[in-house]
Amino acid sequence: MGPGEEIRRNPAGFRVLTGDRPTGRLHLGHYFGTLKGRVELQDLGVETFVIVADYQVLTDRDVAERLQEHVEDLVLDYLAAGIDPRRSTIFAHSAVPALNQLMLPFLSLVSVAELGRNPTVKDEIAHSRQAAVSGLMFTYPVHQAADILFCKANLVPVGRDQLPHLELTRTVARRFNDRYGAVFPEPAALLSAAPVLLGTDGTKMSKSRGNAIALAATADETARLIKGARTDGERHITYNPDGRPEVSSLLLLAALCQDRDPREVAEEIGGGGAAALKRTVTEAVNEHLAPLRARRIELARDRAHVRAVLRAGNERAGERAEATLSEVRAAMGMAY
Ligand code: TRP
Repeated sequence: MGPGEEIRRNPAGFRVLTGDRPTGRLHLGHYFGTLKGRVELQDLGVETFVIVADYQVLTDRDVAERLQEHVEDLVLDYLAAGIDPRRSTIFAHSAVPALNQLMLPFLSLVSVAELGRNPTVKDEIAHSRQAAVSGLMFTYPVHQAADILFCKANLVPVGRDQLPHLELTRTVARRFNDRYGAVFPEPAALLSAAPVLLGTDGTKMSKSRGNAIALAATADETARLIKGARTDGERHITYNPDGRPEVSSLLLLAALCQDRDPREVAEEIGGGGAAALKRTVTEAVNEHLAPLRARRIELARDRAHVRAVLRAGNERAGERAEATLSEVRAAMGMAY
């Protein structure tokens, strides 16, 4: 039985925590990769926490300078995509003191060598434009363990790049339980079934590469971006992800929007060439996202509401974190 089936059978047996760094607007890669899946989990009745990881962008100067705006944009994307703040808890980890306090005992459970070996941290360090690596960057995975364990989440929908962090979270939970008694679950990763979407230049879709189509883009912007997307010289359109990655990713995008098989979309376009392909993709994206975009525009008119959603989420997450911290203190003999 796959995890999907188990979740459908027993949604109350799961608690989900997942989220994003507030680096700007979410794009189609985020949407089909994780966001849509989160909404589905929520709608199945799984208790869901969505974290705005604002401490994880402090090491990125450009982002840190416009933090408030990025955080609000992220919350808007969540709400527009269907995360319902009455059922799911959207919060910023900086606003939950008891969550952050878990980091200290957790740090005692991992070695400096383990942190130094973490491939995701190594990769981020390699790509960071900073002269020196901050201590915070090294401790991201431990902080992320606190993000996940404060609410005792047992299911974490993430991309492949986050698997090392999740493995460390499991290690922290196991070591804590071994040393102090059973407090934490060992959470499992939930990888998206959707293949990775390529950006308009044919490499992985990513905001920092400037090749992404934002969820919040207008229909015209979307048309322009897709028009400029890379294809190949072969006129007849076929779905062949290995041999024709750019064309196939566009087909996949249309197919995801229309809930169809990309091969079927390809057959329909056939000899129409790249121009017809791009028309099809543009229409599919704009049509699929129209309700989401309309909701987002409506929600963006009321920034006070967006902030209120976040404050309420912070409070709810705070209560959960306090309860867990009390247990942790008791287990550690620190309940004075
Ligand atoms: N590190 C994640 C990212 O870069 C963001 C994140 C922070 C996260 N804390 C988390 C994701 C906890 C899942 C669970 O996207």
